[in-house]
Amino acid sequence: MMSHKKFEDVPFAFFSITKEGKVKSANFQAELLMDEMSAFGIRKFGEFLLGKINGDNLVFKTPRGTYGIKVISSRKDYEFFVIALDEFNQPLGDIMDISSLQHEIKTPLTVIDGTAQIIAAKAKNEYIEKCAGIIQKESGRIKSILGNIHMLSEMTVKFDEIDVESFISELRDGIKIVYSRIDLRFRVLRNLRTIKADREKLFMALSNILKNACEAQGEGDIEVEVTIDPTIKYMDKEMEKACSMLRIVISDSGPGMEEQVQERLFTPFFTTKNKGTGLGLIIAKEAIDKHHGRIEVNSVKGKGTDFIVYIPSRMHPSSEKSG
Ligand SMILES: Nc1ncnc2c1ncn2[C@@H]1O[C@H](COP(=O)(O)OP(=O)(O)O)[C@@H](O)[C@H]1O
Ligand SMILES: [Mg+2]
Repeated sequence: MMSHKKFEDVPFAFFSITKEGKVKSANFQAELLMDEMSAFGIRKFGEFLLGKINGDNLVFKTPRGTYGIKVISSRKDYEFFVIALDEFNQPLGDIMDISSLQHEIKTPLTVIDGTAQIIAAKAKNEYIEKCAGIIQKESGRIKSILGNIHMLSEMTVKFDEIDVESFISELRDGIKIVYSRIDLRFRVLRNLRTIKADREKLFMALSNILKNACEAQGEGDIEVEVTIDPTIKYMDKEMEKACSMLRIVISDSGPGMEEQVQERLFTPFFTTKNKGTGLGLIIAKEAIDKHHGRIEVNSVKGKGTDFIVYIPSRMHPSSEKSG
């Protein structure tokens, strides 16, 4: 076995194995991982991984933790990374230098886009014009992914006083434009007039969760419940008091999710959709984390999914009482 020069420097385990499960190359991290696994009694790690890949079972558990397999080639041999899922959940900025990555990608992308524009303009045939249009559309998609990654790596929050009613109607309108067959049904705690949060970031987080619900369900009513959770409190250091948690539950009656999907929800780029980016939920989670909140999922296959968002209410004592 030789070590794989190309991936020697990445912080993840890289493997190349034959279709029979023989390890052909492994970087330093991969060798460490193999040693660890053999300590747990998994000696033929190549065959073990092959079984996972062939079974399309790309997340597996060991006594050390949960790992994900990211296949990058399956042409001749299987080439893939094995990544601890905790590492997946690390802030992206810790793993790679986002702004230089962005720059590296943006420059050629602009050239591609410009060239496609020229082809479209000069095309003498409809088919070529259509193809150029696809190139432009898809490069636009890459640009928007880059924008999302950038936002993820530099997300800051600024607290505003948000008028709940206008916030909700804006959410409702935003969804209605894109998903005309969905109705959002809000149930809001009666005396909740204002909340303190970063309006734009909270909006983005909730829209991302709502969009997924709409895409899962297709049509009909989606329930959104906004209340104060009576059971948990958040200690606000600035206000030097325990404040209550706002609880937002978004419930769809879509197809629900398999356990395997649920485990990977907050993994960057994980998507089950043809045109998905796999960034919606990680952006939502980042925004909610920045509010010192948390996000939970309850999903039953065949029944539907609840996303539950908690954020500290941070209401002024006066508005908490009078509201
Ligand atoms: N309400 C839901 N019902 C079923 N599956 C969901 C729901 N929300 C998220 N998912 C699953 O989580 C995946 C990741 O969601 P997300 O991060 O928003 O990326 P994207 O929507 O681009 O796929 C989706 O592809 C889908 O498989
Ligand atoms: Mg989404």
